[in-house]
Amino acid sequence: MEEFKTLIVYYSRTGNTKVVAELIQEKVGGTLVKIETKEPRPKDYRTEVEQNEKEQDNHTLPELKTIVSDFDEYNRIFIGTPTWNMAVPQAVLSFLESYNFDGKTVIPFNTHGGYGEGATFRQISANISGANILSGYTVKGREETNGVLLAIKDKNKDKVSKEVDLWLENINQLNK
Ligand SMILES: Cc1cc2nc3c(=O)[nH]c(=O)nc-3n(C[C@H](O)[C@H](O)[C@H](O)COP(=O)(O)O)c2cc1C
Repeated sequence: MEEFKTLIVYYSRTGNTKVVAELIQEKVGGTLVKIETKEPRPKDYRTEVEQNEKEQDNHTLPELKTIVSDFDEYNRIFIGTPTWNMAVPQAVLSFLESYNFDGKTVIPFNTHGGYGEGATFRQISANISGANILSGYTVKGREETNGVLLAIKDKNKDKVSKEVDLWLENINQLNK
């Protein structure tokens, strides 16, 4: 069996994608890394929606505070992203363009507010080269407009945990 050294990177504003990242870590081990920008992001939801749209339209790549100095040592990389305007937050693209994914196994996951993964998985595939990209997992987090920010908790977290088990089993990544 191939030996994996696992990195789990994720972007998360309100914690849903983070919870999925932590569940993955519980199941397969590895190092958890949160993608953070140098410039703090807007706290206000509407302001973030507008800033993100501008960055997407202008193809802006925000500078990252996060640096994974031993990136080359990892050969299995989970990448978690929320859906923002049906795509990835631009900071995820900043991350993808900062590293060489050649020869690595890449496994995307996503949380969304009800409209699915959108272009996020396609964008991850399109912005890295030379990687073996496995089928991703997507689950509903919460629309911030509802006032409940973190939906993946309590009973729902148990349900998501079971789904994550099934997904990892299907893509043959459990017990590695
Ligand atoms: C700026 C912004 C844009 C969003 N755009 C979408 C969208 O286009 N489609 C969707 O289903 N959810 C959208 N959402 C909801 C998030 O994808 C959802 O709440 C997700 O679970 C958040 O993950 P997090 O808690 O890890 O930050 C958006 C949220 C934000 C903050």
